[in-house]
Amino acid sequence: MAGTGNEQARKTAEGLAYQTGFGNEHSSEAVPGALPVGRNSPQRAPLGLYAEQLSGSAFTEPRGHNLRSWLYRIRPSAAHPPFVRAERHALRSAPFTDCTPDPNRLRWNPLPDPTGPTDFLDGLWTLGGNGDATQRTGMAVHLYYANTSMDRRVFGNADGELLIVPEWGGLLLRTELGLLHAAPGEVALIPRGVRFRVELLDATARGYVCENYGRPFQLPDLGPIGANGLANARDFRAPVAAYEDVEGPVEVINKFCGHLWTATYDHSPLDVVAWHGNHVPYVYDLRRFNVIGSISYDHPDPSIFTVLTSPSDTPGLAGVDFVAFAPRWLVGEDTFRPPYFHRNVMTEYMGLIEGAYDAKAEGFVPGGGSLHNMMSAHGPDRETFDRASAAELRPQKIDDGLAFMFETRWPLTLTEQARDAGHLQRGYDDVWQGLQRHFRL
Ligand SMILES: [Fe+2]
Repeated sequence: MAGTGNEQARKTAEGLAYQTGFGNEHSSEAVPGALPVGRNSPQRAPLGLYAEQLSGSAFTEPRGHNLRSWLYRIRPSAAHPPFVRAERHALRSAPFTDCTPDPNRLRWNPLPDPTGPTDFLDGLWTLGGNGDATQRTGMAVHLYYANTSMDRRVFGNADGELLIVPEWGGLLLRTELGLLHAAPGEVALIPRGVRFRVELLDATARGYVCENYGRPFQLPDLGPIGANGLANARDFRAPVAAYEDVEGPVEVINKFCGHLWTATYDHSPLDVVAWHGNHVPYVYDLRRFNVIGSISYDHPDPSIFTVLTSPSDTPGLAGVDFVAFAPRWLVGEDTFRPPYFHRNVMTEYMGLIEGAYDAKAEGFVPGGGSLHNMMSAHGPDRETFDRASAAELRPQKIDDGLAFMFETRWPLTLTEQARDAGHLQRGYDDVWQGLQRHFRL
């Protein structure tokens, strides 16, 4: 049962207003007149606010990649006591060196229920990742399972941006730049350094997080697809300014180079009354994704389902892609329609938000996940192969599942807790056993 706090959070979430568009230069003021006009840092900012720039890119990066927001706040972020090391529970960061990288196909059931009150931050559980947070390369896969809202606690991540993929339970994200509602089927992005608090709309909340240490996610280029399609920019929602004027102790937790640091402020840092810029959090409803596929034969590589991409210095090679398998029609003629067997230089972590995935008849469940590391052979299970090979090829709607993938350029190394987890499925290899030899001359 949702408690009173959940009800309040739900009411707040349902009434939110947004600004729309991806990568826009947004602006918003919670109080009329709070935004300076014609300059960013006037001698005295309006309403006695402090002006502060939050840079998500180097000052000198090209205009198309430059990210920064100007915040007008009750107190400057600089007014804080020293941070001291804090317990990090099951949250880990790159580099991941505790385990030997494993070429085996692996699959997990959902996280076990939390023991005792667990908020979003304490409920983060790291599966693994690659790269190095101190070098701003690579990514990490986390899962979360929370049963309580963050209370007088605020989290900020200096190491990268957080792409939150709720699977169960809605979230109210109170960020420095305003409030976002993220429900299962939607994703939310918290940019590097932006502080936020997570409140639960339901008794529990469960999901996935891609922590991207590299270049911020952007929309993929569309090439011959044209000017529209895949995730359309207009469907991304950024918050409007909303501040809390809270005096009294608030714990601020800062993840910095893989470790958590804590300081108790005498006020809430979610005190931004107005802001403008493009370093902003956002939400996106995966059901808005414009799915493009073949209308003749075969099906395109799953890159056609890319929602967001973190580019590298090599054109076309992503540090990490976020890919969604949204409801769609399959119409290919003389085509094996489920995802084909393959081996991939990229590494694929897959999760399931709801329903079933068309390449796996069973065992891949919402809240669980699978890892197919660099060059590991995978594809449809035996049951799916047999069924799809014999199926009558009529137009078919895939509308009972919502799966996604974090696809990354480097092999993913597990944490010890993921390698040794009780919810790691034993015998995942068995799904490919019994694929019959059909070869004949
Ligand atoms: Fe794959």
